[in-house]
Amino acid sequence: MTLVFDVPRGVAFVSGGLSGVQRRSSASVACWLVARPPDSSKRHCKGGVSSLSLQTEVSRRAVLRTLVLLPVAVGMSSQVNAATATGGTATGSGTSLGIEVPVPPLPYPYNALEPVIDAKTMRLHHDKHFVGYVTKVNAALTEEQRKTFPSILTRLSTIPDRTVRETVRNQGGGAINHRVFFEIMRTPVADAQKNTPGGALGDAINRQFGSLAAFQKEFAQAAKTLFGSGWVWLYEVGKSPRRELKIGTFANQDSPLMQGNMPLLGLDVWEHAYYLRYGPDRGAYVDAWWRVVNWPAVEKIFETRQLP
Ligand SMILES: [Fe+2]
Repeated sequence: MTLVFDVPRGVAFVSGGLSGVQRRSSASVACWLVARPPDSSKRHCKGGVSSLSLQTEVSRRAVLRTLVLLPVAVGMSSQVNAATATGGTATGSGTSLGIEVPVPPLPYPYNALEPVIDAKTMRLHHDKHFVGYVTKVNAALTEEQRKTFPSILTRLSTIPDRTVRETVRNQGGGAINHRVFFEIMRTPVADAQKNTPGGALGDAINRQFGSLAAFQKEFAQAAKTLFGSGWVWLYEVGKSPRRELKIGTFANQDSPLMQGNMPLLGLDVWEHAYYLRYGPDRGAYVDAWWRVVNWPAVEKIFETRQLP
């Protein structure tokens, strides 16, 4: 990989291959978030809750080298295939988008998260909602802008046209949020209390929040009380010289990336994420969700500072 820093904008890019079906092309890029962008605004977020600094000191220069955004392949077909199984095959829209921002496949069969999240919900969530976000952000961006996606989310104010800017914010945010969301889930464990993070992330959560149980209680409370549609994220504060974790709620498809921060663990509380199985009982969805959290995937994000 070759790091190329764009320091004036606080963003650096790293070229390199992509995992899974994502293939490197001549224009493949992955973007590394390194600092709060000039267009960040707290109005995009309804507020982080916890804020205790970790002991590990990280210089700003180190942060500049390491904080991460999402890999984006350029110039590849959007028609991608997920693993085949009884749950069916997750794909992109099935149409050739012919564009730069890819539609990653669902990394497991549609029914892999049963009974916590049903197959129909996963099919609609990936193949309709997620594909829709990607399709619309591609339509909104110029070819040059697509090459900088998703780092362009860290500097939305540089998009001059208000309508385009809002489209990129909403559809681009949806594309990134769902990409991470699908990757940090897995086949459910029988007992949610036995599904726990380890390694540096486990230590960091304990240090930050007091215990895993305390973190989960605070995170779940944020998810259950968020008014309207949005997300709850555990994220790392990008500009902090120390590795600081926060829980925050984000309206609509806003993302920690828009504040210059790195998402780690996100829960989609839009009704499309749970209504078929849980109806209006968002609380039951939130409580059950801990069974499908793919902690090793989250640990990897935290330890490598690179999103899947
Ligand atoms: Fe969603």
